[in-house]
Amino acid sequence: METRSQWGTRAGFILAAVGSAVGLGNIWRFPAVAYENGGGAFFIPYLFALLTAGIPILIMEFTIGHKYRGSAPLSFKRMNKKTEWLGWWGVLVAFVISTYYSVIIAWAISYSIFSFNGSWGTDTEGFLFGEYLNLAEVPGQIGSLVPGVFIPLIIVWAVVLGILFKGVKKGIEIANRIFIPALVILFLIIVIYALTLPGALAGLDAFFAPDFARIADPDVWVAAYGQIFFSLSIAFAIMITYSSYLPKKSDITNNAFIVGFGNSSFELLAGIGVFAILGFMATAAGVGVDEVVAGGVGLAFVVFPAIINEFPFFNEFFGFLFFASLVLAGLSSLISITETYVAGLVDKFNISRTKAVLFGGGLAAVISLLYATQGGLYFLDAADYFINQFGVALIGLVEVVMIAWVLRELKGLQTHANGISDIRLGSWWTICLSVVTPIVLGYMMFGLFKQNLL
Ligand code: PHE
Ligand code: NA
Repeated sequence: METRSQWGTRAGFILAAVGSAVGLGNIWRFPAVAYENGGGAFFIPYLFALLTAGIPILIMEFTIGHKYRGSAPLSFKRMNKKTEWLGWWGVLVAFVISTYYSVIIAWAISYSIFSFNGSWGTDTEGFLFGEYLNLAEVPGQIGSLVPGVFIPLIIVWAVVLGILFKGVKKGIEIANRIFIPALVILFLIIVIYALTLPGALAGLDAFFAPDFARIADPDVWVAAYGQIFFSLSIAFAIMITYSSYLPKKSDITNNAFIVGFGNSSFELLAGIGVFAILGFMATAAGVGVDEVVAGGVGLAFVVFPAIINEFPFFNEFFGFLFFASLVLAGLSSLISITETYVAGLVDKFNISRTKAVLFGGGLAAVISLLYATQGGLYFLDAADYFINQFGVALIGLVEVVMIAWVLRELKGLQTHANGISDIRLGSWWTICLSVVTPIVLGYMMFGLFKQNLL
């Protein structure tokens, strides 16, 4: 049997984990979620979710990967023969996410190029949906491949699979050592530029204005937990996979804090940049910031191009910076999602990494072509909806309940982590995982079922 691959350096592991965490969720999801859920006041439930669920689960997953030294299915199997399925569930969700996450990166590549000559024009909505995606009239109708999406999509997969072929140290680690510092620099330039725009302060005022009354609303807490789960890439088998490549002597707990706070810092930075820009737009149009707020695909591919058209100077350069950062943030996350099932296949079937990348990644790439058709956006919406319902919170809930209550593994994991980490895990960690998190996630799932069934 081959010996397990390893990260070359501690910084390499941290950058790769931060690379997985920092993604589209930070740039287009967080600012809108925070704004809609109490603005400045949202930071209270958000920090609570980070400290009681985000970082504790991150520590738990890092410890599982490190202790059992396997991809998620193998680690869970080594923990207890009966729990291998839990790992495969995460792997399956990761696989589905990768099929559409790759498509969004492909759009961002096209838009980086369109930035240079403003070829999205002024009717940005018409351009995205009409011209670029060439959407079918009827949802469910596949239609033909859209060349503008197809070509960049092939590039995305070629880059990701190329990096994964090279392995953990020479591929994933080196890519993140380049992508993440580059991303931080590009994004800092964006934020500094954005803050100089007229109206930027009005945007920040709107973003940070606290609406403390909202804290009493349980939905706001649910939103905070949902954001933390998606944003930290936890409960998807990813962080277990990455930590299985750590050397024996590794300070897991400290690493988890660095990754958790690093991701949140980037989220805050993105919130400031996005709202400074929305403030500019609102001021220029003479309307309130609330009239221009958007998130998701609409923010990145409709609202932002429209605003960038109006910038007083450097439009093309700025457009390129923004979409290039989406590409870098997205690629480093896609690498981690894809590695999750590559590692699962290698461990399960004892095949070479090259074969696993070809089969697993190749299959995902072929499926992703479905979203490059004229029906693409409809399928993308459906997949994303499915994942949000049956992925994120549900796996997280099952995972903590199994480990804390069914297998009673928390103590063992705690001892393992404390044996190698500077920060000692006390009873706060066990209480967060066995009581606080299951209650909040249980409540979340109950709400989801009620909403869908009644
Ligand atoms: N954490 C990434 C983000 O914030 C997204 C992601 C989710 C990546 C799930 C991998 C798995 O965008
Ligand atoms: Na994130």
